[in-house]
Amino acid sequence: MEKHILPDIPDLHTIDVYERHGGYAALRTALQMKPDEVIDVVKRSGLRGRGGACFPTGLKWSFMPKGNDRPKYLAVNGDESEPGTFKDRQIFEFNPHLMIEGILIGCYAMGITAAYIYIRGEYRHWIRMVDAALDQAASKGYIGDNILGSGFSTRIYTHSGAGAYICGEESALMNSIEGERGYPRVKPPFPAQKGLWGQPTTINNVETMSNIPLIISKGAEWYAAIGAPKHPGPILVGISGHVNRPGVFEVPTGVPLLTLINEYAGGVPNGKRIKAVIPGGSSTMVLRGENLEGVCMDADSLKAAGSSVGTAGLIVMDEDTDIVRVLARIAHFYHHESCGQCTPCREGTGWLEKMLHRFEHGDARPEDVEMLVEVANQIEGNTICALGDAAAWPVQSFVKRFRDEFEKRVAAPAPHHAGV
Ligand SMILES: Cc1cc2nc3c(=O)[nH]c(=O)nc-3n(C[C@H](O)[C@H](O)[C@H](O)COP(=O)(O)O)c2cc1C
Repeated sequence: MEKHILPDIPDLHTIDVYERHGGYAALRTALQMKPDEVIDVVKRSGLRGRGGACFPTGLKWSFMPKGNDRPKYLAVNGDESEPGTFKDRQIFEFNPHLMIEGILIGCYAMGITAAYIYIRGEYRHWIRMVDAALDQAASKGYIGDNILGSGFSTRIYTHSGAGAYICGEESALMNSIEGERGYPRVKPPFPAQKGLWGQPTTINNVETMSNIPLIISKGAEWYAAIGAPKHPGPILVGISGHVNRPGVFEVPTGVPLLTLINEYAGGVPNGKRIKAVIPGGSSTMVLRGENLEGVCMDADSLKAAGSSVGTAGLIVMDEDTDIVRVLARIAHFYHHESCGQCTPCREGTGWLEKMLHRFEHGDARPEDVEMLVEVANQIEGNTICALGDAAAWPVQSFVKRFRDEFEKRVAAPAPHHAGV
């Protein structure tokens, strides 16, 4: 087994090449272990989810009830619809068997007999690639009945999204798989108690699952020693915006953002200054370019800097960027993608978009700067799912960190005519 999620090996998406490089050996190892031992190894590895919230994976798995008296499900989240995030598709294209092997190990550990890989609908090409990889794995006896003679059986299916960001939220995703409208569900009950079709369900991100074979084959201690101690492992960082070499880079957690931008992504074109960075996809809080010294791509470091890792989708903006316009564009996205179920989000995201439109066109009222923040504060924490927070955080952080840019876009007061 290779040590990376995306090793540079041609044709690794084919099962023969994958097996030749040690593929599916981790599954064999896991099947020799007791399911609880597998969960324990994942816990000790320190792996935290790569889908945005950095939740400890082994702990999540341990919430699943034991025993086989009820069907249990795994939903693998490859909806990948957050602006700035494009890393799971690299796994679909270049190493789908690593994800599949991780899913199989997870299913074995939690006693799951069916897994669904939910893939962003626009990823037609990659859905076909994953389907082909699943067929290959089934033909070799890794998926289906009595896998490798272990007595353990499980099935894996792909499920296509249809263009809704909300369906990446785990409970909306489950409704979507069930054929229902993609509305988030009220929690509790949590998915481990009542998920797909009312049965215990675990939801994990594609990249999270792709870490599992590395952990099983190299060991929890090996994994825990990579990168930032409290948020270890390899991480796929997608870098976009004003950089010379945008792309997805696999690095240990804890790499400084400036190293990612200047060394991995080749720096900012024409040697321009970095004005702002969104570190983890459009919902994470923006940082000012001059405050990036010492800030690293891991949960603790970004929290201390006033943001979060999210999905490690780093968006770089140079000195010429119109900050107000960027926020107006982000607000448009969240308004468009709000499912409309909760009033604060349905109405608030629309108000934010309208107000930002006024700012963008130099037409805002002086009180709008404060009102933007107030509306965002009214949304945050007052909705069923975190889309409301995702809409509020950019507004709160852009205004807090670039207030002058918003104040500059307030309309000049109308000229006062005597006698009117
Ligand atoms: C609006 C919204 C969209 C989301 N989109 C995704 C997504 O595309 N992929 C993903 O893995 N997680 C997404 N999440 C997070 C999931 O709800 C969930 O936390 C995650 O899939 C858990 O996986 P992990 O523990 O492996 O990180 C989204 C959350 C929200 C609120």
